[in-house]
Amino acid sequence: MDLRPACCSSTLLLLVVALLLPFCANAASNVYIVYMGEKKHDDPAMVTASHHDMLASILGSKDEALKSIVYSYMHGFSGFAAKLTDPQAEELKKHPGVVSVKPNTYHTVHITRSWDFLGLGYNQPSGILSKANYGEDVIIGIVDSGIWPESRSFDDSGYGPVPKRWKGVCQAGEAFNATSCNRKIIGARWYTKDVVLANLSSSEYMSPRDANGHGTHTASTAAGVARGGAPRARVAVYKACWTNAQGVASCSNAGVLAAMDDAVGDGVDVLSLSLGGMFESPGSLHLVARGVTVVFSAGNSGPVPGTVEHASPWVISVAAGTVDRSFPTEISLGNGEKLVGQSLYHDDVPAVNSNDFHSLVYAASCDEKALAAVNVTGKVALCFLPLEAAASPPGTAVNHALVGLFKAKAKGMIFAQYSNNRLDTVQTFCEGDLVCVLLDYHLAYRILVGYVVEASSPVVKISPAKSVVGDWVLSPRVADFSGRGPSVAFPAILKPDIAAPGVGILAAKGDSYQFMSGTSMACPHVCTDQIALVTDRFGMPIQAEGAPRKVADPFDFGGGHINPERAVDPGLVYDINPKEFTKFFNCTLSRDDDCLQDIGKLYLLNLPSIAVPDLKDSVTVWRTVTNVGQVKATYQAKIEAPTGVTMSVDPSVITFKKGGRQTKTFKVTFKARQRVQGGYTFGSLTWLDGYTHSVRIPAAVRTVIQEFFADTS
Ligand SMILES: *[C@@H]1O[C@H](CO)[C@@H](O)[C@H](O)[C@H]1NC(C)=O
Ligand SMILES: *[C@@H]1O[C@H](CO)[C@@H](O)[C@H](O)[C@H]1NC(C)=O
Ligand SMILES: *[C@@H]1O[C@H](CO)[C@@H](O)[C@H](O)[C@H]1NC(C)=O
Ligand SMILES: *[C@@H]1O[C@H](CO)[C@@H](O)[C@H](O)[C@H]1NC(C)=O
Repeated sequence: MDLRPACCSSTLLLLVVALLLPFCANAASNVYIVYMGEKKHDDPAMVTASHHDMLASILGSKDEALKSIVYSYMHGFSGFAAKLTDPQAEELKKHPGVVSVKPNTYHTVHITRSWDFLGLGYNQPSGILSKANYGEDVIIGIVDSGIWPESRSFDDSGYGPVPKRWKGVCQAGEAFNATSCNRKIIGARWYTKDVVLANLSSSEYMSPRDANGHGTHTASTAAGVARGGAPRARVAVYKACWTNAQGVASCSNAGVLAAMDDAVGDGVDVLSLSLGGMFESPGSLHLVARGVTVVFSAGNSGPVPGTVEHASPWVISVAAGTVDRSFPTEISLGNGEKLVGQSLYHDDVPAVNSNDFHSLVYAASCDEKALAAVNVTGKVALCFLPLEAAASPPGTAVNHALVGLFKAKAKGMIFAQYSNNRLDTVQTFCEGDLVCVLLDYHLAYRILVGYVVEASSPVVKISPAKSVVGDWVLSPRVADFSGRGPSVAFPAILKPDIAAPGVGILAAKGDSYQFMSGTSMACPHVCTDQIALVTDRFGMPIQAEGAPRKVADPFDFGGGHINPERAVDPGLVYDINPKEFTKFFNCTLSRDDDCLQDIGKLYLLNLPSIAVPDLKDSVTVWRTVTNVGQVKATYQAKIEAPTGVTMSVDPSVITFKKGGRQTKTFKVTFKARQRVQGGYTFGSLTWLDGYTHSVRIPAAVRTVIQEFFADTS
């Protein structure tokens, strides 16, 4: 049966075609993802055959079905991706057994530079890792742009045999064969079936080999020998992201789902995805239901509120934290004054001699218009304008300035910014002949008012950056680009979950892995202050970058910044059976009114955080904790109520007496103190056993008196 509308016939008048063009455009086939729910399949051949039969019933023949199908999903859930016209997709929706039919979408990888910068210095073996045998035999799946297997990070010397439960493969291809896998990289697969090959970069490989660099970096950070979070973990590579001619790696949802599905079948323990987009795909829930911890990066669109990505309650969204490393760069002025900014200038910029003074010109915002008004060629430009210094996201103005200065062949840029370090941006653009320094706003003001406007021919000398690691560097901080809460998709789920340096979260997941395998529970949200710090090593509150920089709150870092050293003995955990999630899962497939009501009650999920986005008079939520510490223990509740809200816990003392897995349920009630439309305020609930355990979860509450949500934040 041919469902193409007749208007596509070439015999029709041009005018008619033009009028009906939108309809005709629909006749082109696109990749759709057909989701058929959670089904157990024992025989893959049977599944594929059943998918083909279903498609054949719509497309008219088995041949057509075989031509149309792109991927068959069978391990994590049942479904397939197929090339369909819109009418065919509509037809499939009506088929019994089909839960949803959605167009394929594309996602870009989260920029690697940031992780690169964050990954620096994260190489000391920590306590938890030694106890967890450096994560040996934890299998970390990485869905990304592939891997460069010869990188030293993936040397397998000293590794034992591949864990017996591993069922994956090493899929060969261009410049990648069976010997490219080893006891470190234990598996590799690649997904091109829905990729437009003609659009790929000429340097791309038709194999798991990484032409882009992002995947290799993510993998080495997560599990690399040199500085990874779980250096003894095994790596399984799923290349679903492909680099186009512009150098951008993007990943189709259909391919990522195929990778997730294979990851379940192969036996990975933790799946890490540093991909952008609102991934409310069925894949991740089914993975979690099968005991795989799914970790997403929280996105790079901060510090604007509501930018956190991957807000499904069953995945862990990780905010980016900075490490205790700084790159001070000395700026000497012609009048002898010296100031310190930050740069990644390594004295290897041939056009700029760091022993020489260069002309310094004030170029206002350094945007296109400003640069047209001054001659910056061969000079160092001082970019100073309050609006640009405060731009949010702050990187944008820096980028514009860099591009303009580069074109104008300037020697350098001194960019005034509030204290929201954008060195990652500078690193990306300041290669070649341009030295780029970021300078605190008040220092830039001093250069301008105290020197540039006074001197007849101002000059400046920029010394190479020093690298400083250690105590006096304010850290950790939440990076300014890190995606921030509240979650727009699910406001009653507090996101992000936690902050970590790069993907160091996986180090801690090494311990979670222990916990997972020790119990039948699949989703170990072990977010307590045993692993999440809200203060730095001096007891000062952790800060969040942005303009202005501020004390971090749960929308910046969830439960706090991870402290892998202390995750071994949390005392209490907030455990959840993945079945709880499925109640809310349908809302991610179709959003009708019933669903919105369900979403409102998401705060009843037993997560180690509480978000109440619509407090009118009073809201009560329940939580259950499981004792994983010593058998006999008594915990007392300590409450920090959000401003404007009373918060109570009942019972406020819980006692565990017997062995085995003991649980206690308690309720937490929030009451609005004023009947005033409000913004979010933050608090916490901490269970203390009076000895070593202090188990803290964050709470975010918004008072909404009127039905409308305007005037709240
Ligand atoms: C593939 O295998 C051969 C040996 O069979 C080896 O010489 C070659 O370097 C391997 N690696 C790649 C990337 O082709
Ligand atoms: C591939 O490239 C063509 C031509 O540049 C463009 O029209 C098309 O949208 C691209 N397709 C994808 C999937 O990026
Ligand atoms: C800008 O300055 C450079 C170097 O001083 C000079 O060579 C160039 O001619 C100037 N350009 C204009 C448009 O004045
Ligand atoms: C979710 O949707 C499926 C299929 O549409 C339905 O069978 C199931 O009952 C729904 N679950 C809930 C909890 O509403």
